[in-house]
Amino acid sequence: MDDTATAAARDAADPLASFRDRFAFPDPDLVYLDGNSLGRLPHATVARATDVVTRAWGERLIRSWNEDWWEAPLRVGDALAPLLGAGPGEVAIADSTSVNLFKLVVAALRARSGRRRILTDDLNFPSDLYVLAGAADLVGDGRHVEVVPSPDGVHGPVDAIIDRLDDDVALVTLSLVTFKSGYLYDLEAVTAAAHAAGALVLWDLSHAAGAVPIDLEGAGADLAVGCTYKYLNGGPGSPAFLYVRRRLHGQLQNPITGWWGHTRPFDFSPGYAATDGIRRFLTGTAPIISTLLIEPAVAIVAEAGIEAIRAKSVAQTEQLIGRWERDLAPLGFSLNTPRPAARRGSHVSLGHPDGLGIDLALINDHNVLPDFRPPDNLRFGLAPLTTRYADIDAAVDALIDIVTTGRHRDYEGARPAVT
Ligand SMILES: Cc1ncc(COP(=O)(O)O)c(C=O)c1O
Repeated sequence: MDDTATAAARDAADPLASFRDRFAFPDPDLVYLDGNSLGRLPHATVARATDVVTRAWGERLIRSWNEDWWEAPLRVGDALAPLLGAGPGEVAIADSTSVNLFKLVVAALRARSGRRRILTDDLNFPSDLYVLAGAADLVGDGRHVEVVPSPDGVHGPVDAIIDRLDDDVALVTLSLVTFKSGYLYDLEAVTAAAHAAGALVLWDLSHAAGAVPIDLEGAGADLAVGCTYKYLNGGPGSPAFLYVRRRLHGQLQNPITGWWGHTRPFDFSPGYAATDGIRRFLTGTAPIISTLLIEPAVAIVAEAGIEAIRAKSVAQTEQLIGRWERDLAPLGFSLNTPRPAARRGSHVSLGHPDGLGIDLALINDHNVLPDFRPPDNLRFGLAPLTTRYADIDAAVDALIDIVTTGRHRDYEGARPAVT
């Protein structure tokens, strides 16, 4: 069988194929490989948006707070919890990933007050590194961040992180799946090593949630944050989630002490008193419309099942890497993602010295939409609920065409604002 026939057969046999019908495909010819950045729009979200805006807001007005809205950040958190391996009352929807990270890092540093160091790696999302530095600076008293370098820009520096663990480390914080290379850490092993040294562990699950099975409770992880707009299809700027292990609820204090974390917010008393449970990590009024729009998408992911999603993701990343090996490596593309499936998430990065030009040629000349991360990474996000095997072949065929015809040179010097 040639590539086209093989992909068609795999799409026909795909147990998740029918889930594509749950999403909008206004341009059926678009090969969208950016679900790791902004997931596609579910039809159910359109219906929910209409209901929230016209009925709940338009008709019910302020009554909706008691009818539905007040509990929404925790209710949607509970719906998401099984996908993270968390229990009820351990996950809340709030703020952005960066803000949640700040809140939990400051709380963790204060809870480990005799310890000065935060360990992370240079594969972590830059905003996370900025937030860590800001939190360390705010807590002060010699707190500082140690950014452990990856050996090759692709794999996490696991051994080097473990080597640096001692009784001065307050917190280890990493992205479970790294944003550029897609390296997947061993959640359980790293958590266990950090705990053995008495440190807390915080995972950024942005590129993992909805794409890989996660067992926060099984691993004994302390804290986590993550986006909902990637593989959880919550929509642009949808609020993030935060997870705090139940037994830490009473030990950690939210540093941004707003009324949504107060024990009696409607007393409007002048003094702050933190409420119990995960609600104490809320701060101000939830962005209700976008919080509620996460719910239908999370239901679809849960219905499909994270194990089935992971199985298709592994098959699709294997397909892309197999075609890289055969067709793209000879054309000067490097594989910037781990080779073993067990050590990668659901996106594949391919490097090429003319990466940005190739990215723009894919978008403008081939209707293929990946994204680009400097200096030379083309990132292909494979979202198993919506990506077909045929899409992967189409993207690779387009890459071959661009590089062999030199069409990417048309885009030399272009610098779009968002890549
Ligand atoms: C791994 C990771 N962490 C954090 C963020 C930042 O999220 P936010 O903009 O919600 O703060 C992103 C955004 O893409 C991300 O990929």
